[in-house]
Amino acid sequence: MATLLHLDSSPLEGSISRELTREFVKTWKAGRADGTVISRDLSATPSKPLDAAWVGAAYTPDEARTQEQKQVLADSDELIDELQRADEYVIGVAMHNFSIPSVLKLWIDQVARQGKTFSYGANGPEGLLKGKKATIVMASGGVYQLGTPAGAMNFVEPYLQSVLGFLGVTDVTFITAGGAAKVMMGAVDRETFLKPTLEQVRGVAA
Ligand SMILES: Cc1cc2nc3c(=O)[nH]c(=O)nc-3n(C[C@H](O)[C@H](O)[C@H](O)COP(=O)(O)O)c2cc1C
Repeated sequence: MATLLHLDSSPLEGSISRELTREFVKTWKAGRADGTVISRDLSATPSKPLDAAWVGAAYTPDEARTQEQKQVLADSDELIDELQRADEYVIGVAMHNFSIPSVLKLWIDQVARQGKTFSYGANGPEGLLKGKKATIVMASGGVYQLGTPAGAMNFVEPYLQSVLGFLGVTDVTFITAGGAAKVMMGAVDRETFLKPTLEQVRGVAA
């Protein structure tokens, strides 16, 4: 039975990335009658920032951890369990200040754990999330075409590609709804703007 992990990170209810991930989930479910979807709204329930207790607990071997340290890692364990259970991920991302929303970074900090999602072996770092497929659906006010000066300011794609790859997730598809500012300014209506990206989303999710 296929399992999809669906994450949203925009703080906005009328969010473009949320509309696109909703469509992804709808299409994905339509093609998999027995599929399971785990949904997490990272903005509604943000993860805690890492502190000294978390780092101490994470770098204490499993068998030596105190009850208190186990408690400190309980949220991280739960989030990692979701990543391990799911075969596929869809992550909605709002570009904020050329990068990802802070709530998505907090989630990444909770799930990047040595011995759980990556390890260091004789050949250097190894990602432990194997055989997973991720789709990143990003909305941005501007357009950041790779190879253009603006493209160099898009830190969302290179960062997510790198960090997911570090955790072992190398099959990553990026779908971008760039130029959302035009919708905000009333230069284009939302439906017209979203049409090609919604089609792309359906194609990947099917
Ligand atoms: C706090 C904030 C920061 C933003 N920073 C950028 C930015 O750096 N570059 C950009 O192109 N758009 C930026 N935008 C515009 C958003 O990327 C755009 O509104 C997009 O639709 C957000 O996704 P969402 O609709 O899913 O929330 C920003 C918007 C907000 C609210």
